[in-house]
Amino acid sequence: MPLLSALHAVQDAHGFLPPEQLDQLACRYGLSPAELDGFVSFFSGFRTHPLSENSLRVCTGPSCRMAGLVDALSAPGAVPAPCLGRCDQAPVTLAANLATNLAEDDEAPVYPPGHWDWLGQFVVGAQRTRLLATLEASSLTGMGGAGFPMYRKMATVAAASAPTKYVIANADEGEPGTFKDRDLIRRHPDEILAGVVLACRLTGASRGYVYIRHDYPKAYQKLLKTVEQMEGDGLINGGAPSSLMPSITVVRGGGAYICGEESALIASLEGRRGEPSPGPPYPAEQGLFDAPTLVQNVETLLYLSRIARNGADWYRQGGVGRRHFSVSGAVQRPGVYEHPCDVTAATVLAAAGGLTPGDTLKAFIPGGASSGFLPPSALNTDLTNEALAPLDSVSGTGGIVFIPESACLIDLATGLMDFFADESCGQCDPCRLGTATLAHGLGGLKQGRVMPQSQMVETANAMATLSICGLGQWSPLVLTSLLRHFPDDITAHGQGVCPAGICSMGEGS
Ligand SMILES: Cc1cc2nc3c(=O)[nH]c(=O)nc-3n(C[C@H](O)[C@H](O)[C@H](O)COP(=O)(O)O)c2cc1C
Ligand code: SF4
Repeated sequence: MPLLSALHAVQDAHGFLPPEQLDQLACRYGLSPAELDGFVSFFSGFRTHPLSENSLRVCTGPSCRMAGLVDALSAPGAVPAPCLGRCDQAPVTLAANLATNLAEDDEAPVYPPGHWDWLGQFVVGAQRTRLLATLEASSLTGMGGAGFPMYRKMATVAAASAPTKYVIANADEGEPGTFKDRDLIRRHPDEILAGVVLACRLTGASRGYVYIRHDYPKAYQKLLKTVEQMEGDGLINGGAPSSLMPSITVVRGGGAYICGEESALIASLEGRRGEPSPGPPYPAEQGLFDAPTLVQNVETLLYLSRIARNGADWYRQGGVGRRHFSVSGAVQRPGVYEHPCDVTAATVLAAAGGLTPGDTLKAFIPGGASSGFLPPSALNTDLTNEALAPLDSVSGTGGIVFIPESACLIDLATGLMDFFADESCGQCDPCRLGTATLAHGLGGLKQGRVMPQSQMVETANAMATLSICGLGQWSPLVLTSLLRHFPDDITAHGQGVCPAGICSMGEGS
């Protein structure tokens, strides 16, 4: 059992991690107490002390921030939490005790007998080869943010001659403004897990993991129940694991945004602190326990299932594929919407019912917090990396946040940069110092204090070029997008005026 799962089991049972239980775990996993402490303390989801009854996590993500939730932080027992992945329900608070949350189980999904019979055809080698060709023809790219073609990673793992290979479904979703994975797992756990089974069959992997964000308890329960049903149907978790009947384990993360990054995720699954080690070698060559490992976002695996059943042409209807967008902020019907990959934000906004009455659009985040802010003039730009590149942005996770004139971009940017500074694993200086410097600079602007622009730009450039993983490379966009598209907001704050009247100018200056 991964160390993460053993820790969660103890915490579920006791509400926290009692010292004697930690001692036992250290013995069981061959770790010194200091090593175990180093692992536990890396994550925000583990507690070494009991929680008070009224402990409440208050989401500080952009949509909740706009909904005024940071005010709830003054309540007794309230603690700030990074974006809780429920932006469609903003403002969001969660009981801090995850065991309590786990008890709030949804109805279990029940699938009729034969529900997964269609998977049977992919036991035959020729059909698997055909599916690989279909996948290549579909041009399906990853939905976790990096947008890498799935076929290429799949082919690398499939071609590797190694005694053990792994598939990891990444559901660690933590990018502020993004909640599609939580929604998709709750609605389609059967297709996502079928995608994991298919990925094992296509790559020759005998073991699969679904790594799910620790504070998605209902989605976690859905996966567990669905795994049980697949076991009952004889599809997974038989005797000796094989690529045709793989073992599949659902693992909860410990509460660290960086563990969504694939090498950090693998480290945490191995029982090491979630510090990225970017390739080469990449996980497809040398991943979990040094074995070839296919890491895919859960939405990508959902589409693998659908492409296996419906073909490449179905996926590429209209010339491009499709994806799910998390839509939140000042919209009438926030939620998860499926659109062609080259949809514009204007179309996404219209499908979500348009802006909330009385609001005027100030800006939007096109693809999760690391994609920065764009002005309304970009509404008709395709949400693809190619089309967004001239605007210095990316399609990222497809988490779109519509921001009204009543919100303050400096305030939102400060919240996001604080988040990145908190979540930086700290192992490389440009990111550790850079996120802190930009958070400090933006926080100062909220109070009318100006950090020289050259210092901010130099810091952002150093982060983008010298950081070793995507957190440090992409997070400066939060600042640079403001400098490029919203210079007036920066100037106004520098002169002690918050146009939205949100920042408390002069406080602490
Ligand atoms: C800081 C950071 C956080 C990430 N978080 C996630 C995540 O929560 N879920 C995810 O699927 N990918 C995440 N990624 C991307 C993964 O490293 C990896 O590219 C992805 O899981 C591969 O799957 P895909 O090709 O299907 O997108 C993150 C990357 C970075 C740099
Ligand atoms: S860029 Fe940031 S999060 Fe990534 S390895 Fe460096 S310090 Fe860690």
